[in-house]
Amino acid sequence: MKVRKAVIPAAGLGTRMLPATKTVPKEMLPLVDKPALQYIIEEAAAAGIEDILVVTNRAKSAMDDYFDYYPELETRLNQAGKDRELAEVRRAADLANIFYVRQKETRGLGHAIWRAKRFVGDEPFAVLLGDDIMRAEKPVTAQLIEAAERYNASAVGVQQVATAAISKYCSVKVEPLEERVFRVSDVVEKPRLEQIFSNYAILGRYVLTSGIFDILENLKPGYGGEIQLTDGLGLLCKQEEMVAVDFEGKRYDTGNLKGFLEATIDFSLEHPETGEWLKRFIQEKAQEL
Ligand code: UTP
Repeated sequence: MKVRKAVIPAAGLGTRMLPATKTVPKEMLPLVDKPALQYIIEEAAAAGIEDILVVTNRAKSAMDDYFDYYPELETRLNQAGKDRELAEVRRAADLANIFYVRQKETRGLGHAIWRAKRFVGDEPFAVLLGDDIMRAEKPVTAQLIEAAERYNASAVGVQQVATAAISKYCSVKVEPLEERVFRVSDVVEKPRLEQIFSNYAILGRYVLTSGIFDILENLKPGYGGEIQLTDGLGLLCKQEEMVAVDFEGKRYDTGNLKGFLEATIDFSLEHPETGEWLKRFIQEKAQEL
């Protein structure tokens, strides 16, 4: 098994980040100096992915413009001797081979991934959700690819969440295989308390076999009236091997205001241009509060 392709579903309406996301895709909101989507594409590229499909919609053409060349801007930067900016602008466009497909109706994450069927063909592929950003020494996608290749199986990235919070996620039925790796035998989306299998929830990263497409094609709408990827995974894990990887790294859900601000502060603290300044600013603020 060799994973060369990735799919980034980014066609959601972003209703938790309104009004900003009425005209700016939430994946294009900047975290310090780069749009959220760039962090995700960088993770995929760092995990050895060559071809990336972004699932988009009619309101999100800013995404394909961003990962394109911009000759007028580049000439101007060149003439002004702004070499660092020029290199950064070019680098974003050269991160990977990026393709786009539109999800013509917003029918849920499972439906968005189904749109990747022709791009993926018969290969296993990675999925990185467009608003989940990971900070990890080894890219989370690479951690999943390793497990998927070792077990010749699909792999989902999980971490433990508090019982009180799991109803916002999905819950995975697991049995241990090795340190940080489990066999998956069932999954439930947004479980009620009595439906919880475990506190392990899938958090935004997957490696799937192409077997998921036939399942998604025939899936009925589930929670919230949407075609749920989780429902598809529940069926896939009964047909084929699936493992869960308790990945190392921190996850930021930048699709909600608090997660977005958390990522903004953490990334700004790490950034060479803003880190020291922000630390002093926070210390001063803390004294006023
Ligand atoms: P979310 O539920 O986090 O995104 O979906 P959303 O629907 O944009 O969020 P809110 O609740 O309205 O704020 C998880 C991922 O699936 C994508 C989203 O773009 C996000 O990356 N998605 C969701 C699609 O691509 N298509 C859909 O129909 C739904």
